[in-house]
Amino acid sequence: MSADVAATRREAGVGPVPGLVLGCDYNPEQWSPEVWHEDVALMREAGVSLVAVNVFGWSDVEPEPGRYEFERLDAVLDLLHAHGIGVNLGTGTASPPPWLSTQHPEILPMAADGTRRHPGGRQAWCPSSPVFRERAVALAEQVARRYGSHPAVRLWHVSNELGCHNAHCWCDVSAAAFRDWLRARYGTIEALNSAWGTTFWSQRYGAWDQVGTPRLTVSTPNPTQVLDFQRFSSDELLAHHRAEAEVIRRHSDIPVTTNFMVTAHRRDVDYWQWAPHMDLVANDHYLDHRLPDPLAELAFSADVTRGLAGGRPWMLMEHSTSAVNWQPVNVAKRPGELLRTSLLHLARGADALCFFQWRASAQGAEKFHSAMVPHAGTDTGVWREVVELGATLGRLEEVAGSTVRHDVALVFSFEAWWAADGEGHPSQHVRYLEQVHHWYRALRAAGIGVDVVAPGAPLDGYRLVVVPELFLTRDGDAAAVERLVANGGHALVTYFSGIVDADLRVRLGGYPGAFRDLLGVHVEQFHPLLPGEMLTLDDGGAGSLWAEELRTTTAETRVHATDGPVPGAPVVTRSAHGAGAAWYVATTPDLDATTRLVREVADGAGVRPLPGAGADVDVVRRTDGARSWLFVLNHGSTPVEVEAAGFELVEQQPITALTVPAGAVRVVREEVPR
Ligand code: GAL
Repeated sequence: MSADVAATRREAGVGPVPGLVLGCDYNPEQWSPEVWHEDVALMREAGVSLVAVNVFGWSDVEPEPGRYEFERLDAVLDLLHAHGIGVNLGTGTASPPPWLSTQHPEILPMAADGTRRHPGGRQAWCPSSPVFRERAVALAEQVARRYGSHPAVRLWHVSNELGCHNAHCWCDVSAAAFRDWLRARYGTIEALNSAWGTTFWSQRYGAWDQVGTPRLTVSTPNPTQVLDFQRFSSDELLAHHRAEAEVIRRHSDIPVTTNFMVTAHRRDVDYWQWAPHMDLVANDHYLDHRLPDPLAELAFSADVTRGLAGGRPWMLMEHSTSAVNWQPVNVAKRPGELLRTSLLHLARGADALCFFQWRASAQGAEKFHSAMVPHAGTDTGVWREVVELGATLGRLEEVAGSTVRHDVALVFSFEAWWAADGEGHPSQHVRYLEQVHHWYRALRAAGIGVDVVAPGAPLDGYRLVVVPELFLTRDGDAAAVERLVANGGHALVTYFSGIVDADLRVRLGGYPGAFRDLLGVHVEQFHPLLPGEMLTLDDGGAGSLWAEELRTTTAETRVHATDGPVPGAPVVTRSAHGAGAAWYVATTPDLDATTRLVREVADGAGVRPLPGAGADVDVVRRTDGARSWLFVLNHGSTPVEVEAAGFELVEQQPITALTVPAGAVRVVREEVPR
């Protein structure tokens, strides 16, 4: 039901505030009212038009069970409104207050080893707890009733990053909810036994009450039980969102959303299932310096979020002006980086750029997290860059509402991620997200823009689909790829794809099961490589992680391995199929070889690279059908020249050729729209 409401609101083009948005989390409860007055004046100086308040407000607005104190929040909302600043209003339910966990310790989540997690941090609640749900929905209702038609409120912010710390709970209440979920999925215990393959290791269930959450056991647990627990946990959190959203909608017509975490370190929520329930898709993203290429991951996250938003403009609900406080080394942004990384989200389809948070906290666990107003105040590089960002957004205003569309689709699946990284697989060194990132990095370095799609999504209009390690493949997922190729499109599928169905049952008869006929290859045995072991490829590249005993059936071999466990084996193949072609890659080629390969495949599919794009230069085009804007973001240390003509918006001047200085961003309204 809520998905229908959400779809109607999205079609109506409901956004939080018209135009481009600069915003932030605002926690005035941490400061005295004198500071609030300085805050709103500074917000106006920076061009802030939307602030998220009351996200962690529970203990403040409901200091005792059922006693609500809204006076402070009233004052904050009125003050913001008086200064023309809109509010992204939190329901305040993200973190239960101490009175709730003291009165009802059963809401505390249980870990897989059966021990309880304690209060003292945040988000310590069991997603299946009826007591927690009831109290949270009651608070959401009070907030919605009071502020449902407050003129400052532009957007509802349910809870916060649902599942960030409490994605799973293994307690008895969760076990009962899991059983209900399983009953709805399978109907009978026999069907569950069949799906889970319980004849293996004497795991056959005789009755529902024998089934539990996959708590820590002494050996490898049942993989399908683990996968179903992932699915269930994601659904439980979504049900929580929906319960709060439903009560809000009774009191307010304002769009409702929650902030997603499409990042490298959170994988517990299937956002393809969630997105249809959002009036507006919002994401939180922080650069992760533990990764080999943090910028490419930022670009990927933005592309995933645009995919989740169905191609429509989306909102960056949180990112940081500089360092975070939760990585081993919290790297501060260099001059220009705040602007460039923010605008990279904008280039890839965001219309709202918000930061966590407005003013750096003086106390608490996040006091060393950067903010728009740093501890050192406004005579700082960070503040000046914040103001510059606000001014730049003013100059870019005309791109609001425009969209990004590419010729290449990349299939990304949260469910396949859960499944692929399970225990007992050929190699624990092959990690789904790393494989996806690897192919994305190569595509980005080759200047080939991609749209990220869910498995099984219709691929009409694309010239090429890239399918990295889609271990779990449903029949419909493979059929969508096959259809594209039959109709003249191209596909590139990588190893350990098409291996199992939705129950994790191996597709027999030779790998890569679901894609075997399309790709024209037959794999007899996997030969995963040891860490550091490399394959020599006869195109000059090197392969790592994986090799296979592979023979071609209808495919031709483009690249062989000359050594390794199967010397002479094909590692890159191409099969003409229908009116198109399907490529298969049976190792992880080094980044250069992968980049060369995606260039060749894209070229064959008729895909043109974006002008000037590369590993250090993001180039993205946004369009509104009548006009187009070319974004060029130079992350490198030398200027880049890009063929472009039109009006450049950052410097506000007509151009016939574009030079983008090191570290700078330029946005050209193109003379000839694309
Ligand atoms: C997010 C969270 C914020 C803040 C931020 C710090 O995960 O939503 O409340 O903790 O991280 O990076």
